[in-house]
Amino acid sequence: MSSVPAYQLAHGTVRPRRLRRTPAVRRMVRETRLHPAELVLPLFVKEGLREPAPLTSMPGVVQHTLDSLAEAAREAAEAGVGGLMLFGIPEVRDETGSQADDPDGILNRAIARLREEVGEDTVIMADLCLDEFTSHGHCGVLDATGAVDNDATLDRYAAMAVAQAEAGVDVVGPSGMMDGQIAAIRHALDSAGHTDVIVLAYSAKYSSAFYGPFREAVDSQLSGDRRTYQQDPGNGREALRELELDLAEGADIVMIKPGMPYLDVLAEAAAVSSVPVWAYQISGEYAMIEFAAAAGAIDRKPAILESLTAFKRAGADSVLTYWAVEAANWIREDR
Ligand code: PBG
Repeated sequence: MSSVPAYQLAHGTVRPRRLRRTPAVRRMVRETRLHPAELVLPLFVKEGLREPAPLTSMPGVVQHTLDSLAEAAREAAEAGVGGLMLFGIPEVRDETGSQADDPDGILNRAIARLREEVGEDTVIMADLCLDEFTSHGHCGVLDATGAVDNDATLDRYAAMAVAQAEAGVDVVGPSGMMDGQIAAIRHALDSAGHTDVIVLAYSAKYSSAFYGPFREAVDSQLSGDRRTYQQDPGNGREALRELELDLAEGADIVMIKPGMPYLDVLAEAAAVSSVPVWAYQISGEYAMIEFAAAAGAIDRKPAILESLTAFKRAGADSVLTYWAVEAANWIREDR
């Protein structure tokens, strides 16, 4: 008796494996490709550092000095990455995060320094949030009861946006999940004449356990959690509401964060958004792959490339990833 199924004989052979046979055929029919310009590198810069400080929870990532930051920025520009996302760690923190909008604050100095170093060669973005700057580690200022005060925080974000714009930033990335933050920031930027500054809205940012290593990276002062402002991991529909609001408030780009645990949310956002949709492959996702690879459990390079491809397949136009430079170099070599 023949081992070929009868239905295949009846309809001509259905053999999807034909398109998987050789590397050249697979390359020809691949639906999703990575490009260096669609990768954005997050970078940490810490005030008062003499030497770059390696992070134990993110092997291969460091807190930079201003000098090593400039070097990393040049390396990234050479690799062709789309842009840089800066996070600043100040020496002194206070209740309102006053270093955030001080022109001499570390983040604003870093923006100005990079603007000088790389000119228009790469896109400079900065985190627009208070958590790195407040003594309590929350993303906003607190009211008398100790709760995060939404509307008082908007004034701080507005001042921060203008300070970053004056320092020369191309893109501000509000990541604090306050209601009305995109409108407040757009209004502040426009009123100060910075109509060209792009607003990248962290539209759906979930309250995630996977931010763990980031807390080490920014010397976080937080005790407790961010569940009164970041989204509950169980909610998908709510992300679309946040996205609609951000679009209505004038967001130029929207982002979903974290990445891999939320690919369904990313795909839904990509299906309805009228502006670019980005994903953030966060610190815990980085750590999981690095530590699993170091333990010999997975093969590092294909795991990284597979994870990045998955974001694009799900609908992301660009991805923030700590592997941006390494992946950009691989992509170019593998052509
Ligand atoms: C807040 C902010 C966080 C991250 C980016 N911006 C931390 C948080 O919300 O707790 C996390 C990024 C990462 O984990 O890689 N300023």
